[in-house]
Amino acid sequence: MSVVEIKPNIYWVGVIDWGVRDFHGYVTQNGTTYNNYLIKDEQITLVDTVKHDYDMATVENIKSIVDPSQITNLIINHIEPDHASALGTVMQQMPNATIYITERGKKGLDRHYDTSKWTFKIVKNNDTLNIGKYNLVFLETPMLHWPDSMVTYVKEAKLLISQDAFGQHLASASRFDDDFLAYHSQYELDDAVIDYYANILMPFGKLIKTKIEDIVKLGIEIDMIAPDHGIIWRKDPGKILQMYLDMANSKANPGVAIIYDTMWHSTELMTIPLMQGIKDTGVDCKVIKLRSTPMSVAIKEFWKARGCLIGTPTINNVMFPSIAEFLYHLAGLRPRDRIMGAFGSFGWGGGAVKEAYEKFKQMGLETVEPGIQALYKPSAEDEKKCYEFGKQFAERMKGYNAQF
Ligand code: FEO
Repeated sequence: MSVVEIKPNIYWVGVIDWGVRDFHGYVTQNGTTYNNYLIKDEQITLVDTVKHDYDMATVENIKSIVDPSQITNLIINHIEPDHASALGTVMQQMPNATIYITERGKKGLDRHYDTSKWTFKIVKNNDTLNIGKYNLVFLETPMLHWPDSMVTYVKEAKLLISQDAFGQHLASASRFDDDFLAYHSQYELDDAVIDYYANILMPFGKLIKTKIEDIVKLGIEIDMIAPDHGIIWRKDPGKILQMYLDMANSKANPGVAIIYDTMWHSTELMTIPLMQGIKDTGVDCKVIKLRSTPMSVAIKEFWKARGCLIGTPTINNVMFPSIAEFLYHLAGLRPRDRIMGAFGSFGWGGGAVKEAYEKFKQMGLETVEPGIQALYKPSAEDEKKCYEFGKQFAERMKGYNAQF
C-alpha cells in the first residue's frame, strides 16, 4: 500500500493486516490496520509505529518519503504491541530520534525493550512541541486504552491523532471515511466502530465521556481524526465524536438480544416463543447461538441492544460452560445500563438460571425475574409461558430504555 498524504506534509505510513482473525482473542473478521503517521516538517516526526510483523513495511513506507536517519522525533501515543512492537527495528533506522512519551508509557516501554540507548522526553497533559510549521499538543488519555495512552493534536492541521480511540478493526483499501463509504454502507462502518468500542472500550465509558468533554472545553478545532486502526475520519469527524458520546452515555437500540446455548435443543426451542413474544410487543429481537458465534460478535450484539436474555441449560447444577465463559468475559467489560433475563431447560436439580441472575446482579445490571425454566423439553404450556415472558421482558425493556 502506498503512503497517503492526509494533510499537507503529514502522511499515513501504516500497514493493512488483511489476514488477522485473532487479535488477542478478539475475532477480527474484517482484519485491521496499524496506522502510523509521518510529519515532514523542519523536525521530521513519526507518530507511533506498527505491529512487529510489519516493521520493515512501515520502514519502507517512511523511506519513500524521507531518509529515516533524518527523523528527529518519535511520538509514542500508546505502547501496546500492535503499535509499539516494531519500535526496535524502527529505532535502528533513526537512532538519534528523541522519543516523546508519557511517564507511564516510559515505564511500560522499559519492561518490553532495552531502552538504555534511547533518548526520552517525558510529556504531560497539554505539553506542546514545535516542530517547525506545526505545533503538537499532547493530551493524556489514561486507560483509553492503557494507562500510558495519550493523543497528539496537530494544531495548524486541526488533526487529532487519536491512537486506539475512534478506531475500528477494519482492513480496507480506503484510508478515509468518505472513500470507504463510496463502496460500502454506513451500517458497515458504524458496525465496525460499535464492534471495536464494545470489545475494547466498553469498560471505560465514563472516562471517554470526561475526556471528550475535556477536549471540547479546550476549544480546539478538529477537522480530521486519525486513529491507529481502520478508517480516518475526514468527512465528518463530528459524527464519530457524537457516536462515542452516545455510547459513553449508554445509548442502545431499544431491542433484545437472546444469547443462548443448548445441549439437546430444549433451551434452543425456548428461544422461538420468547422471540415471538418480544416481536409481538413491537420490539426487535436478534437470536445468537453462542457456540456458533465468535465471543466478540456476541459481545457486540449484547452491547447494541438495551435488553438481553441469556439462555442456558443446567449441567451439573451450574450454567452451560460457553454461557459461563460469556458472562465471565462480559463482567470484565463492566457493562452498564442493560436489562437482563434468563431462561433454560434442566433435568433434575436445576441451578443455571438462578446462577445467571446472580451474575447479572454482581454486574449491577437491571433484571426481570424470575426467568423461565423448562423440565427436560419445553411443553406446550412451557412455550406459552416463554411467549408471555418474552412479552413481559420486552415491555420492561421499553420502560427501562425510556430513561436514557
Ligand atoms: Fe491498538 Fe490498545 O492497542
